[in-house]
Amino acid sequence: MTQQLDIAHKPADSRDVPRIAGMLTQLYREEAPGMINGDTEPNELLVHRALREQAPAAIEGMVVVEDAGTPVAIGAIATRQHPRVNLWYDTIAADARDLLGPRDGTRFLNGMRRLMGALITPLAAGEAQLHSIVVDREARQLGAGAHVVAVLEEKARLAGKDSATLQVLNGNPAQHFYAKLGYEVTHVDAPTDNGPYPSITMTKPLYN
Ligand SMILES: CC(C)(COP(=O)(O)OP(=O)(O)OC[C@H]1O[C@@H](n2cnc3c(N)ncnc32)[C@H](O)[C@@H]1OP(=O)(O)O)[C@@H](O)C(=O)NCCC(=O)NCCS
Repeated sequence: MTQQLDIAHKPADSRDVPRIAGMLTQLYREEAPGMINGDTEPNELLVHRALREQAPAAIEGMVVVEDAGTPVAIGAIATRQHPRVNLWYDTIAADARDLLGPRDGTRFLNGMRRLMGALITPLAAGEAQLHSIVVDREARQLGAGAHVVAVLEEKARLAGKDSATLQVLNGNPAQHFYAKLGYEVTHVDAPTDNGPYPSITMTKPLYN
């Protein structure tokens, strides 16, 4: 990886699903303590299957940022018209226990259900929700995250939205990243909300 990114972006398509699964697994490991345990590979495979089962809806509105043709970051946008897809559903339950074993499979499923419960929120007509923002570990601190947020904000403006909103789990240092990009905290869950995953809502006006 170079120290400066040769950056470009494109809408996610089905060929990106394996890399998207890899980055979402990183996100879940870092953002949702206790959800991902043990080896990365079977967890990635499970996320891959969950995405594939719900394609194309699961990657609708998703942007892939590439460095010299290699995907290094993702992010997605949801609106009232195109709500976020809930990756928790019954058909992955059997796969989770097969791939991860009963203990880690149950922890994965509990984590996914709580995460989706914490992060899928009703949206106002003028709001766009930014979500699933993650930069591959090897490519952080090089501007890819700021790039993906800027691309998603532009998509939101083009869709006629006047504000961007997002949820960060309370304690995630990404809160400081979003603050640098102009997001302000507009709501903090009580520590007892959403079980182990209380979140912070951050919002930014989008001037058209
Ligand atoms: C948060 C994340 C997306 C940032 O991506 P990145 O590519 O490393 O960020 P950038 O290089 O574009 O940084 C943009 C600015 O934010 C700052 N920043 C980035 N991460 C930061 C952090 N953890 N704490 C404080 N500031 C941070 C950068 O220093 C930079 O500031 P500058 O413009 O003054 O130099 C990335 O660290 C990540 O994928 N984290 C794990 C997944 C996650 O938690 N995603 C958010 C879920 S809501």
